[in-house]
Amino acid sequence: MTEESPTSPSLENLLTEDRRFPPDPQFSEHANAHPELYAWAAADRTGFWADQARELISWHRPFTEVLDWSGAPVARWFADGELNACYNAVDRHVEAGHGDRVALHFEGEPGDTRTLTYADLQREVSRVAHVLTGLGVATGDRVAIYLPMIPEAVIAMLACARIGAPHSVVFGGFSAEALRSRIADAEAKVVVTADGGYRRGTASALKPAVDEALAGGGPVEHVLVVRRTGQDVAWTEGRDVWWHEAVEAAPTEHTPVWVEAEHPLFILYTSGTTGKPKGIFHTTGGYLTQTAFTHLNVFDLKADTDVYWCTADVGWVTGHTYIVYGPLVNGATQVIYEGTPDTPHRARWWEIVAKYKVSILYTAPTAIRTCMKWGEELPGQHDLSSLRLLGSVGESINPEAWMWYRRVIGGDRTPIVDTWWQTETGAIMISPLPGATTLKPGSAQVPLPGISADVVDDEAHPVPNGGGGYLVLTEPWPAMLRGIWGDPQRFADTYWSRFPGLYFAGDGAKKDEDGDIWLLGRVDDVMNVSGHRLSTTEIESALVSHPSVAEAAVVGAADDTTGQAVVAFVILRGGNEETSGTVEELRSHVARAIGPIAKPRSILVVAELPKTRSGKIMRRLLRDVAEHRAVGDATTLADASVMDLISRGLDKQSPAASED
Ligand code: PRX
Repeated sequence: MTEESPTSPSLENLLTEDRRFPPDPQFSEHANAHPELYAWAAADRTGFWADQARELISWHRPFTEVLDWSGAPVARWFADGELNACYNAVDRHVEAGHGDRVALHFEGEPGDTRTLTYADLQREVSRVAHVLTGLGVATGDRVAIYLPMIPEAVIAMLACARIGAPHSVVFGGFSAEALRSRIADAEAKVVVTADGGYRRGTASALKPAVDEALAGGGPVEHVLVVRRTGQDVAWTEGRDVWWHEAVEAAPTEHTPVWVEAEHPLFILYTSGTTGKPKGIFHTTGGYLTQTAFTHLNVFDLKADTDVYWCTADVGWVTGHTYIVYGPLVNGATQVIYEGTPDTPHRARWWEIVAKYKVSILYTAPTAIRTCMKWGEELPGQHDLSSLRLLGSVGESINPEAWMWYRRVIGGDRTPIVDTWWQTETGAIMISPLPGATTLKPGSAQVPLPGISADVVDDEAHPVPNGGGGYLVLTEPWPAMLRGIWGDPQRFADTYWSRFPGLYFAGDGAKKDEDGDIWLLGRVDDVMNVSGHRLSTTEIESALVSHPSVAEAAVVGAADDTTGQAVVAFVILRGGNEETSGTVEELRSHVARAIGPIAKPRSILVVAELPKTRSGKIMRRLLRDVAEHRAVGDATTLADASVMDLISRGLDKQSPAASED
């Protein structure tokens, strides 16, 4: 370790990361979450959730049943209760006298803004609920939503919830074909879309994709079209309806439809290991309970003073749970932003934080690493002192990115909550509780109160502290998926067959000496090199801990000698040029951080990594390149040209020595 440079604070890999950040006593004093929550929930898990459900959610008819697991793996929570999700997110705040509180500060990419109070939101969702009913949507019918990140996306979702029509939001960046298959699978009756949205400084069209998706016929009877950009749109008379015209004519008062707790609230498609996306569906009472609880305690929300900003798109589960339902059910004031972080300049996010005095920021490690790449001068130009809590989601956050996030964005003060969960889990499952947990950079740490998770070996035995294996959830939880839409068998096979009786999340994980959980990436991304189990995340963390590396992706490529070999793709930080020594330096760096076994066989310096539109690195494509195969299906890439550049780069590169 003598070669460690002073600018590289740690050469430790993820699992020997030993920095600790105990809670600041001042933060703890005012924190929503208290350490006693763990003991309370452990003593009576279902009783704990019943208490949360009564405290955080308004019920039209109170429940008397808590959990019915007799139909496992389909859980029923609070099943004899009745409620409405939109009433909980909107009306009750107005009734409680908070109608003037800002619900949404909308920042459009071109710089236009809108502010909606809870009273405004109540009027808007009421009108749209009437519009949907007028278009023939009945309770139980599905509505597809294909919109940019504009207030109408939130309003449309809530209006669906108001009439008990499950929404199926399809991310605006998905293709017509993806939209078509999702509409068909859910048999959506209405599609809500827009003429277009703003992205990277230009108005990009959305409606043509809807027209194309519907061209072959299908279940859709009407398309409700928001005018966002004003661009020309093709119009199908009798089918298409302008949002603004319909809404203007609709009454501003509407009585929510009370539904049973197990009434489906939404379907959200997510990719599985096979080609066909899975329609994950969630129901109302349990989902709202865990959503509200986690949003309140993990983000320490103080509804009357905080300004909360989650940078996700409503097209993903993070947007569903931590833009729409969590914050609004808790009566929060939040920012939503339409565009990309680099438009019109790379400090746009920090400008927004300063402008709205954002106090809680929730984003993804990939965004943080991108900002690292752009340099800390940019956030430094803006007043970020309003921030008091930072969150991370989507993948493990490399300790170096965690440290940067805290120091540069959090002013060396803020707790960071690294939150592990999935589309399937509905809400956060594993995360520190700010003010209660001593933080460890790179670890999601502990199952939340009322959540039972473990790490097991191949035979489903819990591993001891210090051991690694598969992450499982051992008890049903309120926000758990109730199934895959229309495919109960696939639900049972995918999640419940690997370890009977346990929910298999698909993630590898380790427990450290304290029993805290460190996520190691999807199990299919775990490599076996010469009989040693190596994590892509671990090696990526090691690479990113090098001062010249901004981002790294690692794949296991088939190797005749070692089974698999480590192949890395790295992006250098601004100002660092690749020299003849770069690759060897990085290989040695990994060897120093983890051990010679983890030393990449080859490292390719690239300008970009192939990412999906949601920012996930597509390692599958990198594996194709690393194994000199034709690159597979790249249609979900945000930028399809990235793979050509990488393939050409690899061909040019002379392979690094691999004898050591
Ligand atoms: O592999 C885990 C990773 O993202 C997967 C779930 O993806 P998705 O359903 O798209 O939901 C993402 C947003 C909740 C998980 O199986 N993942 C998510 N959060 C973390 C994470 N991996 C490590 N640490 C996290 N905090």
